[in-house]
Amino acid sequence: MNVIGINGSPRKQWNTATLVAQALEGAAALGATTELFHLYDLNFKGCISCFACKTRGGKSYGKCVLNDDLAPVLEKIAAADALVIGSPIYFGTVTGETRSFLERLLFQYRGTSLPWL
Ligand SMILES: Cc1cc2nc3c(=O)[nH]c(=O)nc-3n(C[C@H](O)[C@H](O)[C@H](O)COP(=O)(O)O)c2cc1C
Repeated sequence: MNVIGINGSPRKQWNTATLVAQALEGAAALGATTELFHLYDLNFKGCISCFACKTRGGKSYGKCVLNDDLAPVLEKIAAADALVIGSPIYFGTVTGETRSFLERLLFQYRGTSLPWL
């Protein structure tokens, strides 16, 4: 069992990071291997709407084509058994970095045409 944790807070020792780390500790106590990523350590942007992940027959169909610090993290998530995502609430929603992360994580797996409809 492999569990990935995502800290969507800029603070690496505070509430969100503590909660995610403790979830990973619980998984590790049951035998899982775990890895924690702090989004604010990574240089990446949200989805750029290139649709490379939606191009059937293309080299990146079903997989985000962007090659930045988030790319290896998305690879590890794809291979993981479980994912723990934590974010503070900033102005009523998740932090900007968490939102950008979710765009990159989710869009590659959505349906092929206008998946928001
Ligand atoms: C820019 C900013 C916006 C925030 N907006 C909200 C909010 O809308 N609602 C809320 O309950 N807390 C809000 N907070 C408080 C944080 O969500 C809260 O302090 C959180 O525990 C911080 O997480 P961390 O300790 O992991 O960094 C905001 C904090 C900041 C810095």
